[in-house]
Amino acid sequence: MDYLELINNALEQYLPESGDIVSQAMKYSVRNGGKRIRPMLALEFCAACGSDPRKALPFACAVEMIHTYSLIHDDLPCMDDDDYRRGKPSCHKAYGEANALLAGDALLTLAFETAVKADLPAENIVRAVKELSYSAGILGMVGGQVLDLQNENKALTLKELEQIHNLKTGELIRVACVLGCIAAGADDEKIKAAEEYAKGVGLTFQIIDDILDVTSDAETLGKPIGSDAENQKTTYVSLLGIEKSEEVAAQLTEKAKAALEVFNEETDSLKELADKLQTRKK
Ligand code: IPE
Ligand code: IPE
Ligand code: MG
Ligand code: MG
Ligand code: MG
Repeated sequence: MDYLELINNALEQYLPESGDIVSQAMKYSVRNGGKRIRPMLALEFCAACGSDPRKALPFACAVEMIHTYSLIHDDLPCMDDDDYRRGKPSCHKAYGEANALLAGDALLTLAFETAVKADLPAENIVRAVKELSYSAGILGMVGGQVLDLQNENKALTLKELEQIHNLKTGELIRVACVLGCIAAGADDEKIKAAEEYAKGVGLTFQIIDDILDVTSDAETLGKPIGSDAENQKTTYVSLLGIEKSEEVAAQLTEKAKAALEVFNEETDSLKELADKLQTRKK
């Protein structure tokens, strides 16, 4: 089963058919270019819990929509002010700030509309929506973005930075993994293990993002480099340097993989995914 193809087809099915400018902006930002890490994680965990991964598709797409909205808003001039995303002009560069703002809002709402379309028992859907709203909100991703912006130009401790990373990036990765389990009707032990895996993978993901912002190039990444330094953000690289940051990422990845023991089905692909995310170049 080609998970990437399943995800892209499902996203296409859930995106609005209307041709108005904001619908166009939504489709522009969701289509092409994204690595689809979060929906992949949802499908992988659903399979690791012994269920058909296709059951998790509405949840997986919902997380990707929220992630895409967070990127559209993250790039706005009032936030990171970045002009390039997923290998093309940022949403506000292509459609203007007001339409980009609304495209983000509409993707957030569409995410919930999509999640409740899952062909699952109502209680699983309610649990998923509760998790999704928590992780996207002020105690989750938005909360992380608040701290990220508030702390520009400030010296942070490693603990403070870790909290920002866990919220702004870790939470959506966590919920992707958890929703995969919920789609499979998994028990709490498996959900806890998925959260443990997500903790390691999520922090690693943002550490590598910090490193690539220094070491990569815009063409490879599909987004500008040097954005963190320009905005005077504290990052893993600014606190620990590249080599030590890579070491921390490697340790976190090993811990993440160790959390997969409780799953009866094979988890090789989740282990490979963790390794891939740690050694990724884009
Ligand atoms: C970028 O996420 C923003 C972070 C949370 C680091 P991704 O690197 O997953 O971006 P896409 O979805 O592939 O564009
Ligand atoms: C992004 O962090 C986190 C969210 C969008 C929630 P960054 O600001 O580091 O992401 P990039 O580097 O712009 O993708
Ligand atoms: Mg940002
Ligand atoms: Mg940014
Ligand atoms: Mg970044």
